[in-house]
Amino acid sequence: MVQKLQNTSPDFSGRLLSDVFLVYVESVKMNLKLNKKISVIAFLMTVITQILVAQDQSVDQKVENLLKKMTLEEKIGQMNQLHCADMDRVNEEMRKGHVGSILSITDPDIANKAQRVAVEESRLGIPFLSGRDVIHGFKTIFPIPLGQAATFNPEIVRQGARIAAIEASATGINWTFAPILDITHDPRWGRIAECVGEDPYLASRMAEAMVHGFQGDDLSDPTSIAACAKHFAGYGAAEGGRDYNSTFITERQFRNLYLQPFHAAVNAGTASLMAAFNDNDGIPSTANKFLLKDVLRDEWQFKGFVVSDWASVTEMIAHGFAANEKEAALRAANASLDMEMVSETYIKHLPELIEEGKVSMETIDNAVRNILRIKFELGLFDHPYVDKKRTEVFYAPDHLAAAKEAAIQSAVLLKNDNQILPLSEKVKTIAVIGPLANAPHEQLGTWVFDGDKSHSITPLRALHDQLGQKVKIIYEPALSYSRDTTTANFDKAIEAAQKADVVITFLGEEAILSGEAHSLANLNLQGKQSELLAALSETGKPVVTVIMAGRPLTIEKEVELSDVIIYFWAPGTMGGPAIVDLLFGKAVPSGKLPVTFPKSVGQIPIYYNHKNTGRPANGSEYSLNDIPVGALQTSLGNRSYYLDAGHKPLFPFGYGLSYSSFKYETPELSASKLSTSDTLSISFTLTNMGKYEATEVAQIYTQDIAGSVSRPVRELKYFERVQLKAGESKKVTFKLPVQELAFWNYDMKYVVEPGQFNLWVGGSSDTNNKTSFEVTE
Ligand code: NOJ
Repeated sequence: MVQKLQNTSPDFSGRLLSDVFLVYVESVKMNLKLNKKISVIAFLMTVITQILVAQDQSVDQKVENLLKKMTLEEKIGQMNQLHCADMDRVNEEMRKGHVGSILSITDPDIANKAQRVAVEESRLGIPFLSGRDVIHGFKTIFPIPLGQAATFNPEIVRQGARIAAIEASATGINWTFAPILDITHDPRWGRIAECVGEDPYLASRMAEAMVHGFQGDDLSDPTSIAACAKHFAGYGAAEGGRDYNSTFITERQFRNLYLQPFHAAVNAGTASLMAAFNDNDGIPSTANKFLLKDVLRDEWQFKGFVVSDWASVTEMIAHGFAANEKEAALRAANASLDMEMVSETYIKHLPELIEEGKVSMETIDNAVRNILRIKFELGLFDHPYVDKKRTEVFYAPDHLAAAKEAAIQSAVLLKNDNQILPLSEKVKTIAVIGPLANAPHEQLGTWVFDGDKSHSITPLRALHDQLGQKVKIIYEPALSYSRDTTTANFDKAIEAAQKADVVITFLGEEAILSGEAHSLANLNLQGKQSELLAALSETGKPVVTVIMAGRPLTIEKEVELSDVIIYFWAPGTMGGPAIVDLLFGKAVPSGKLPVTFPKSVGQIPIYYNHKNTGRPANGSEYSLNDIPVGALQTSLGNRSYYLDAGHKPLFPFGYGLSYSSFKYETPELSASKLSTSDTLSISFTLTNMGKYEATEVAQIYTQDIAGSVSRPVRELKYFERVQLKAGESKKVTFKLPVQELAFWNYDMKYVVEPGQFNLWVGGSSDTNNKTSFEVTE
C-alpha cells in the first residue's frame, strides 16, 4: 500500500489519506460508544475497502476531469484505432488527437516515438493504447490455446499469459487481443486452435487464468497488459465451420453456453472485449445491442471498453446490415461499440451523426470514458514510455522452462498398446520419421508473428541433444511438409525403420493449415502421411506416432496403424525437449482432450454436453455392413446414430491416458437431498494403480435430469489435477454449491430447478462411475 500511495498523484493520495482517517475516527468513536473491541481484521478490511473505493473514484474522477477538457473531435479520436503500417500518417493523426490506439507496433523505438507524439505533441497529451495479437506467447511461444486447455491446469495457463505479458510489454505493447473464448463444436473451423475447448466450465477457468496472467495483480504494473476477451460472441458457431459465417444462436444457448467464458473473463476483470465478425440471426455482433448493451453493460456491469474486429464495422455493408459507411458507424456506435479497428468510419462520420442527432453525446462520452478508464488503470499517463532494455527478458531460461512444462502437460496420450511408452534405456536405435520431426516454424502453430523459429527446439534436435551419445538416431523425414505427396523417399524411411528398435513418426498439419480463415472440409492427415504410416507399420516395428495439429484431425485409421498415439497440438518453442521427456518417461502424460474427437467429418458437430433426443442411441447399433439386404424400414429400430459411424466419437472430451492407470471409488455425497442454498460435498478415493508417479485430471460431471427446458446429458462441474505416487491413494473432496447447478430456464431466469440430478466422477466425460442426489425447494 505504501508503494501505491507513493505512486499516485497528490490529489489522489490526499483524498485517500483523508478517507482512511475518517474511517479510523469513525471506528474509534464506535469503539468508545459500544465499549466493544473492534477486531483488528475487521478494521483493516474496512480500511482496505475504503482505499479500493477511493482508488476507483480517483480513476473515475480523472476520467471526468479529462473528458471535460476534450473537444468532440478529440473524443471521437479516442474511439479510433489505426494500424501501424504507415507510421508517418498515424503520428500526424495522433498530433491532431485523432488516434486512441495503434495496432501491431512491436518495436520499442517506434512505440516510444509515437507515444512521445501523443503525450508531448497532441493538445491533451493522452497516451495511446498499443494493441497486438499476443495469443500464446510473444517471443517464447507456448502451446496453442487449445493445447493449453488440454493441460486442465489454470495455473500453468496463467503463468504462460504472465510470461507473454512480460515479454510483450518490453516492446511497449500494453494491450493484447486475447484470450479467445469462442466455443465451437466444429474442428473444420481453423480458429479452434486459438480457443480453449468446447466446454463452458473449462473455458471459463482458462479465461480467468489468462486474464489474470496478462493483467497481473495490478494493471498499472509496467509488465501488465490489458486483456481483450474475444470474439464477443458466438463466432465459433459459424455454419459448416466456414470462418466468418452466419450463426443462429438462440438467447438461451448464448446464455447457457457461448457467453459463459466471457462472463468469467469480465468477472476476472478483463479490460476489454472484441466484438465478433459473425452475423447472428441477422444481426452482426459488431452492432448487436443485446450483447453489447443489455448483457455486457446492464447485466454484467462491464466497465472496460469494446473494440470492433478488424474492419468489422464496414463489413456490415457486405453483411447487408448497413447501406454505407455512415450507416455502419451509426449502427455500431448506437449499439455501444466503443472503439473501431482500422476502418475509420467513426472518425469520418460520427461528427455529422451527432449534429444530425442520430448519435447522442452521451453515447460518445460513455465510449470515451470506457477507453480512458483503462488508460488510467494501465498507468499510461504516469509511465507512457518503455525501457527497451527490458527486451533482455526475451527467451529467458525461466520462460523457456515454463513453456516446456506447458507443452509436457498439454500432450494427450491417446493410445499406448503394450505399454510401449515410456521407452526404456534398452532402446539402442530410433528411426525418426515424418515431416514435423524437424519443423521449427510449424511447431509454433498459428498466430505467431513475433516468436522466432530459430529459437524452436525441434523433437529431432532434442533427441540428438539428450540422447545422441547413448542412442543411434536415424532421421528420414520421408515427406518434406505435411501436404507433400511425393513418395520417392518412403524407401529410405522404411529402411531406417527396419534398422531401428522403435519408430517415432511426427505427423500432423503445418501451422498455416489452422487459424483465422483456414477452415478445412477434410480433416484427414494431409498429403501422403497416412500412406507413410501404413508403410512404417508394415515393418512390424513398434510405431509411436506424435501428431502436431491445430485441431482434432480424423485419425481413426492412424490410431489403428500406430502402437502409440500422442496428440501434441502445436507445442511451441520447447516442443522438442517436452516430447523427449515424455517419450523416455522423465515426464508422464497428464493432458486430457478439451474437445471431442470425431471419427469422421460427417459426425460434426459433435460435443459431449449435447441434449438427448427422444430416441437416444442405446448401444444397439447396426453398422453399415450388418444391415440385411432388403431390410424393412423399421427393422433396424429407430435410434439417433449414424449407420456408418455410430454415435460415439473417436475419443471423448476429457479423455487422456497416463503411463500409470487410476482407480476411482464410487463418489460419496454429503447428502442425498439438498436445498438450493446448500453445498454438496463430493468425496472419492483415487488410487494410482501403476508403477509411475503420475497426475490424473479427476473430473466431476452432473446431469439435471428434467428441467423446464431440456438439459445437457452431462456438464463438467469441476476438475482437479491430482498427483499420486505409484500405488498411492488420495481422498479427493470437492464442494459444489448447489447454486452452480443454475441455468437459464424456460422463463429466461438463471435458477436452480429442484429435481433429481445424476453425478459422475472419473477420468473422462464417458465415465460410468455414477451416483445421484435430489435438490428440493
Ligand atoms: C482479426 C481477428 O479476427 C482478430 O482476432 C484479431 O485480433 C484482429 N484481426 C487483429 O489482428
